[in-house]
Amino acid sequence: MHGNGDMAEVRPIRGDESPAQLEAFEQTIADDQTIEPRDWMPVAYREGLLRQIAQHAHSEIIGMQPEGNWITRAPSLRRKAILMAKVQDEAGHGAYLYSAAETLGADRADLVEMLIDGRQKYSSIFNYPTLTWADMGAIGWLVDGAAIVNQVPLTRCSYGPYARAMVRVCKEESFHQRQGFEILHTLSHGTEGQQAMAQDAVDRWWWPSLMMFGPPDDESVHSAQSMRWKVKRFSNDELRRRFVGMCVPQAEILGLTLPDPELQLDEESGEYRFGPIDWDEFWEVVKGNGPCNRRRIEHRRRAHEEGAWVREAAAAYAAKREATVAA
Ligand code: 3HC
Repeated sequence: MHGNGDMAEVRPIRGDESPAQLEAFEQTIADDQTIEPRDWMPVAYREGLLRQIAQHAHSEIIGMQPEGNWITRAPSLRRKAILMAKVQDEAGHGAYLYSAAETLGADRADLVEMLIDGRQKYSSIFNYPTLTWADMGAIGWLVDGAAIVNQVPLTRCSYGPYARAMVRVCKEESFHQRQGFEILHTLSHGTEGQQAMAQDAVDRWWWPSLMMFGPPDDESVHSAQSMRWKVKRFSNDELRRRFVGMCVPQAEILGLTLPDPELQLDEESGEYRFGPIDWDEFWEVVKGNGPCNRRRIEHRRRAHEEGAWVREAAAAYAAKREATVAA
């Protein structure tokens, strides 16, 4: 369950681990310089990055499904246009991240196959259903808000292509988070029925959003290495605490209650203490037993199969152009 998915066939540019190269690599990291695709890197660095970037990309693409479900049901043309733009952004984020993974020697088709056959993961959060329009607000405010807290530090990740991809992703996430907040603000200041719908959505999405940051630090198998090599800049729990601290005042502005009776400001630290997270639920969802896991993967498999003709046509066109240029 915790183990890495089998890694895509990684063609290491240089797989030797000579002490001198390792020392130079560690010094580059220590000097807060970025590692670029053509630089020597330990296989463990490459494989760890490939794992995280691929799963990040998978999350962006699978994440299009819950919101895509509401594009035809949006309550106005304006909301429909905003939601369409957001879902299209997520597709673009996935494309950036698959491209970043390819700079590490991965093959995109292999990664998609590993997602579909379960050898690689995507974020647990996208395995929950979107039951009402208010879920579009809760996803934007909470899920994209959590993504911002998690992704801003990644703009300073030691691997250049990943860090640079995150700069643009984070700018677009800010729009995603604001449009979600606005949806909830409209509903929570609307009719009683709308207020109840907004509160119900926050009740359902709050705890799964906290789970997005990963297991508790003492259960995180990758954090130590990831932080040593400055891929991960802060621990799972540290970012989770930051996210809670960001949401509490915003929930007050929304007039909505966060569903945690133990939520309390710790005067000394200035952080919020919060109730226990249901890690059994988290690991069940990560293992594939969440409310929508099967539906999400089946949808992704079907879309991949139905899109085969587009990939074949693009490949045929590229080959024809190459033949023309070569002639
Ligand atoms: N969902 C699914 N699996 C998760 C998870 C989650 N929320 N959190 C952790 N895991 C998995 C890890 O992938 C790892 O399994 P693996 O070895 O098979 O890969 C295992 O649980 C142990 O967790 P670790 O804490 O040791 O793993 P990481 O160090 O990789 O930390 C992470 C997890 C914080 C999610 C980190 O991978 C990360 O920061 N990833 C980049 C950001 C990302 O992927 N976000 C996902 C959401 S994308 C998104 O929000 C899009 C936005 O537009 C909505």
